[in-house]
Amino acid sequence: MRSRFVAGNWKMNLSKEEGLALSHSIAKQEYKKGTQVVICAPYIYLDELAKITSSNSNVSIGAQNCHFAKSGAYTGEIAAAQLKSVGTEYIILGHSERRTYFGETNSIIKDKVDAVLDEGLKVIFCCGEVLEERESGRQEEVVKLQLQEALGHLDASSMKELVIAYEPVWAIGTGKTASSDQAQEIHKMIRVWLADTYGSDTAENTNILYGGSCKPSNAAELFAQEDVDGGLIGGASLKADDFIKIIEA
Ligand code: PGA
Repeated sequence: MRSRFVAGNWKMNLSKEEGLALSHSIAKQEYKKGTQVVICAPYIYLDELAKITSSNSNVSIGAQNCHFAKSGAYTGEIAAAQLKSVGTEYIILGHSERRTYFGETNSIIKDKVDAVLDEGLKVIFCCGEVLEERESGRQEEVVKLQLQEALGHLDASSMKELVIAYEPVWAIGTGKTASSDQAQEIHKMIRVWLADTYGSDTAENTNILYGGSCKPSNAAELFAQEDVDGGLIGGASLKADDFIKIIEA
């Protein structure tokens, strides 16, 4: 049985004070058994957030990126081992904002996936098409290529450390959510790809999240889809009430 999984991606938002208060509100809540909640916060807050969330076994801490090297002369960068040393369990990789604004290609993301798995951390791997690709009907082809090029080299046992988030780029931060049918269609395709590439056990046990303008009003319908196991939440993860309502959905 797959768990239910909701991750909040704060992106470059919130002061330290606001972030600590928000994580206190999330950590003091009780969640149903089998629900995994992850707070992906700016690097500089992770150390303290890990202490706050350690009181709640349903809640973990995640980072939003890392470097692909183990250590070395990479001014301004952060290594997976450093994130691990402050209590980080998950790292988001391949987010469309990293692809768009920081030139991350499937090949760079592949190296980052390897670096994170080498440290024994877990990856929340993002994939998704841009509007033009959706309008020309190429969404499945684009997502499959992202999966193949960044994850295709892994074996089934490494895949246990991965969560996949389908995030249509046209839905991120735009208020335009994919319909539950559109989400289910791609999630199903991803599950079939997992089965073809790693076998049916991996396909059945991998969490596939939806991300892109997910909010309390649409979460239940999206999460009710057979292949949607939870969400990666941006804007709506910045308010405790909204985020908790989404987790409850
Ligand atoms: P959004 O962002 O919920 O604000 O659309 C989702 C994401 O980028 O992970």
